[in-house]
Amino acid sequence: MNEYKLCVIPGDGVGREVIPCAVEVLQRVLPGLAVQEAAAGWDCFTRSGDPLPPTTIAAIQDCGAVLFGAVSSPSRKVEGYRSPIVQMRQRFSLFANLRPTRELNLASDRSTGQAAVDLLIVRENTQGLYIGREYMRGDEAIAERVITKAASTRIGRVAFELASKRPRKQLTIVHKANILPITDGVFRDSVRAVGAGYPDVQINELLVDTAAMLLASKPRQFDVVVSTNLFGDILSDIASVWGGGMGVAPALNLGESVAIAEPVHGSAPDIAGKGIANPAGAILSAALLLRYHWKLMKEANCIEQAVYTALKQGCRTADLGGQAGTRELTDRILSLL
Ligand code: NAI
Ligand code: MG
Repeated sequence: MNEYKLCVIPGDGVGREVIPCAVEVLQRVLPGLAVQEAAAGWDCFTRSGDPLPPTTIAAIQDCGAVLFGAVSSPSRKVEGYRSPIVQMRQRFSLFANLRPTRELNLASDRSTGQAAVDLLIVRENTQGLYIGREYMRGDEAIAERVITKAASTRIGRVAFELASKRPRKQLTIVHKANILPITDGVFRDSVRAVGAGYPDVQINELLVDTAAMLLASKPRQFDVVVSTNLFGDILSDIASVWGGGMGVAPALNLGESVAIAEPVHGSAPDIAGKGIANPAGAILSAALLLRYHWKLMKEANCIEQAVYTALKQGCRTADLGGQAGTRELTDRILSLL
């Protein structure tokens, strides 16, 4: 036995298909990993009336490391339901959301001569529009967007620290301070102030719409990107296209003592139950848990290499134009480890 404990929350839809695969992969590199399964999400809510039961919160607290699949959230208000992932981010103060994209060029194995896309989006994870303070005032529908100096400084530290350890050492601060000078002004200025302690990191600034255009057209120019909650969410979906899309994109929610790894994708009801979901996003998320929470770099690299090798070898799920199922791709990855 070793000291590593993992709380596993498969959630809804394809979460239940891809998360067990990622657990198998983690157990291969961490034999003796203690696993505790817990429930959250829409199914859990319809069964128990609670989308995030106290037993799940206790299991997260106990383990510290969590692998979360995805949950289905209705896009209308349902009494008693609130997205458990948003709740967990706030409750455990998971203030940084790391979303890396590494280029996956499957169209040709020949090098284009250009450096591959290799970027990291650092998304503030607790504030902005995600505080969920929405209400009606007469005819007006209002959503509050809260940004604090403290939270912006905290995410700035994470972004500069990570940028300073990468070869290119570039950080792009993305905001919309031309339209939102107060809220995004606080964000931009607080992040910039952290830069004084990192003289070797080159700082750039972009408005979010320009950043979206450049992420779609010139992704190689980006190294680390830091932004507010909603902008970071949307930009990371754009960036994910370079890495093979939704089925491949990984994420890690990081706090002081708890880390929750989760693929960027949702519950994918259109393909759930068919055994064709891509497990790569969940498996690469597990690798992020190894790298940033447990600081097990060698094991993290091993998993990432196995995933990319399997895909390069042509073992691909339907979202990447292949015919492999969830099981087949997982087995290939396991055999490469
Ligand atoms: P989605 O990410 O579930 O699906 C978007 C598209 O990507 C679909 O075509 C789907 O088939 C495909 N896709 C997603 N995961 C895939 C995988 N592993 N392999 C291959 N293809 C994959 O987003 P959508 O459809 O907007 O939302 C569906 C549900 O998921 C909603 O209830 C939404 O609230 C929830 N959701 C949950 C998230 C979370 O738990 N963190 C994040 C995003 C959405
Ligand atoms: Mg998203």
